[in-house]
Amino acid sequence: MQINKPIVDKLIMFEEQKNYSFHVPGHKHGLLSTLPWKESLTYDVTELTGLDDLHSPETIIAQAQQLLTQDNNTISSYFLVNGSTVGNLTMLYATCNAGDTIIVQRNCHKSIFNAISLIGLKPIYITPEWDEVTNTATSINITLLKEAHEAFSITAIVLTTPNYYGVLANELREVITYCHTNNIIVLIDEAHGAHFGATAAFPKSALAYGADIVVQSAHKTLPAMTMGAFLHINSERINQKKVELYLGMLQSSSPSYPIMASLDDARHFKANYTDEDFLYFTKIKSKFIASLTAIKGILVITTDDPLKLLVRYEGVTGFELQTELEKQKIYAELADIYQVLLLLPMLKNAMTFQFEEIIVGVQLASEKLAHYLKSTPPTTNYHKAITQPKFSPIEMEEKPACYVNIYEGIGKVAAETLVPYPPGIPICLAGEVITKEMTKEIIMLLEIGAYFQGNHRLNEKLICVMKEA
Ligand SMILES: Cc1ncc(COP(=O)(O)O)c(C=O)c1O
Repeated sequence: MQINKPIVDKLIMFEEQKNYSFHVPGHKHGLLSTLPWKESLTYDVTELTGLDDLHSPETIIAQAQQLLTQDNNTISSYFLVNGSTVGNLTMLYATCNAGDTIIVQRNCHKSIFNAISLIGLKPIYITPEWDEVTNTATSINITLLKEAHEAFSITAIVLTTPNYYGVLANELREVITYCHTNNIIVLIDEAHGAHFGATAAFPKSALAYGADIVVQSAHKTLPAMTMGAFLHINSERINQKKVELYLGMLQSSSPSYPIMASLDDARHFKANYTDEDFLYFTKIKSKFIASLTAIKGILVITTDDPLKLLVRYEGVTGFELQTELEKQKIYAELADIYQVLLLLPMLKNAMTFQFEEIIVGVQLASEKLAHYLKSTPPTTNYHKAITQPKFSPIEMEEKPACYVNIYEGIGKVAAETLVPYPPGIPICLAGEVITKEMTKEIIMLLEIGAYFQGNHRLNEKLICVMKEA
């Protein structure tokens, strides 16, 4: 149980004083703004006397971060105003040096790839496991991790858990213990698990398994504003000064007070979430699932995270289901070829949500979907592998690239990363040598209508490769 909300309370007091603004931001408490929500800009202030400084916190921000630290039982926890993106960049900058070799889950977020490029790291990619129930890529297998460790001298490992769909990494405790026994620092991108550990009914955070540093997007599942995130230092292996140095370099020098206040609020919300709240949430959720599954054609799949629901409609893609749901004003978190992902509100006791209206909308969507042409979603050819790119991202920066016919690309170094959905795991990453198997898989996926992310020219049968390789 935590009582105070130091940043929220101070902002309310400050606003009530109706101070005169001769300072930034230029909207002057919303006066010059034409936004319909300009009233709320009265709380959008800056580092004024009494409002502390995120980059050198001593009062309200220090107190709020201290409460976050206590709630998570960490060495030190921080508010981030540039999302898990800045948390991921910081955790790599603070733990690795240029030229270090690190293990990375092949389907990690682009902020990890960006950190690898910016720092000049040498990545070893491990393809994650595939979960047949949710049809999603999950975690790396410990046997592959051991193989990679035996072949290379590794400084750190970056894991993503849970995945977007709320599926947890397998054997996380064993993986972390193995890494620590072998002097490998464990960095966890827990962007989708900021609510973990709120009560014993939620999955445990990787912090509880001893991960050294963990980043969470508070804005994804807790009631924080977009871009609000947390970074937790959880072991003596992490140099706290370095973390603070990089947070200072990488985050805005004008951090948003509305975002910081929302982080204070989200921290308080989670710290005070009770078993009774969870019981209430579970009852409402079960009723919602029962109503959904009573609709003809709808299939619901639950995952490790109680806040995530996967919804499918027999014989149509997740994209088609998403289109019909949006016509009913129902916006899912995402769609893939198999399903849509619903992110449920983490309701507390007596809170309500429009589940009954939503069921009416899903019913109407399903009546439209009944007339769609039915097909079976494709399954993908899936390989477990450890790969080392021929060139690291930094080595590739100055090298010229060109498009060649997809078959001529075999044996050349890819200058672009190709990520098909499904399964959302890159087939080739920039810097890797393109193999015959990769090319065959790309062709097969194009034929079955898989969607490839990014600006590629695969539909013209062209692939981007490095010129001299
Ligand atoms: C696994 C993962 N890590 C990091 C991020 C970046 O998070 P943020 O949007 O908070 O910067 C995302 C965003 O979707 C993500 O899915």
